[in-house]
Amino acid sequence: MANKPIEPPVPKEMLPRHIAIVMDGNGRWAKKRGMPRGYGHVQGARTFRRLLEYAHAIGIKYISFYAFSTENWRRPDDEVHGIMNLMRKYLKDAYNHFDLRTRFVLLGDETGFEPDLMKQFEDIQKDTDDFEVMTVGLAANYGSRREIAHAAQELAQLVKKGELEPEDITEELLAQHLYTHEMPDVDLLIRPGGEQRISNFLLWQCAYAEFYFCDTLWPDFDSKELDKAIIEFAKRTRRFGGL
Ligand code: FPP
Repeated sequence: MANKPIEPPVPKEMLPRHIAIVMDGNGRWAKKRGMPRGYGHVQGARTFRRLLEYAHAIGIKYISFYAFSTENWRRPDDEVHGIMNLMRKYLKDAYNHFDLRTRFVLLGDETGFEPDLMKQFEDIQKDTDDFEVMTVGLAANYGSRREIAHAAQELAQLVKKGELEPEDITEELLAQHLYTHEMPDVDLLIRPGGEQRISNFLLWQCAYAEFYFCDTLWPDFDSKELDKAIIEFAKRTRRFGGL
């Protein structure tokens, strides 16, 4: 991985702090080429790595990717298996790029994975825990409603044990029990692939996010496309409910 800084498309202070991306369109990209869907995921994973490198080079501090939803288990076994193997491969690959000081955080329920992959997720989080240049959220076995329900369960347990009063449950406290508790809210949500929906991704964290949709299928989404989204983001006026 190259890690030479690259001039960002907008002044540094106008960059989104946290970008979240729904990596959509792999299947259609492969179909257009008469290839199996799995080939689209292979290319999609390469795009993931290239974009990670680019985001790092232009100075993005937080970036999250939707890699696998809780609903994606319903896909055919070979497709699920292929995506799991890609995660194994790219988690291993991350160890070759420790010079980038990128921290990896799993957003999702790790207990859903095969034991070896679960261990890989645990290890990468532990091994990159004090890296500070960029934080990457990998949403895998992730669903936003489930995440919020899980946070509510944790808080309810604290109430049950007498360690918390119900009226002390604030937005901030609930946010501390989400998988993203060490990340700021999302500033820019990008969804390539032509669909314009959020699909149960970071619902709480996107409360004030700017949305950017484009028709490019994920495997073709490159640094120029990311620049376009960032430039569009920088043009928008964010009022956070104020005037
Ligand atoms: C959505 O496209 C994509 C997925 C469900 C899987 C994304 C997974 C990867 C890019 C590879 C593994 C991830 C990492 C981080 C190494 P789709 O197949 O639903 O697209 P379609 O709408 O064209 O069918």
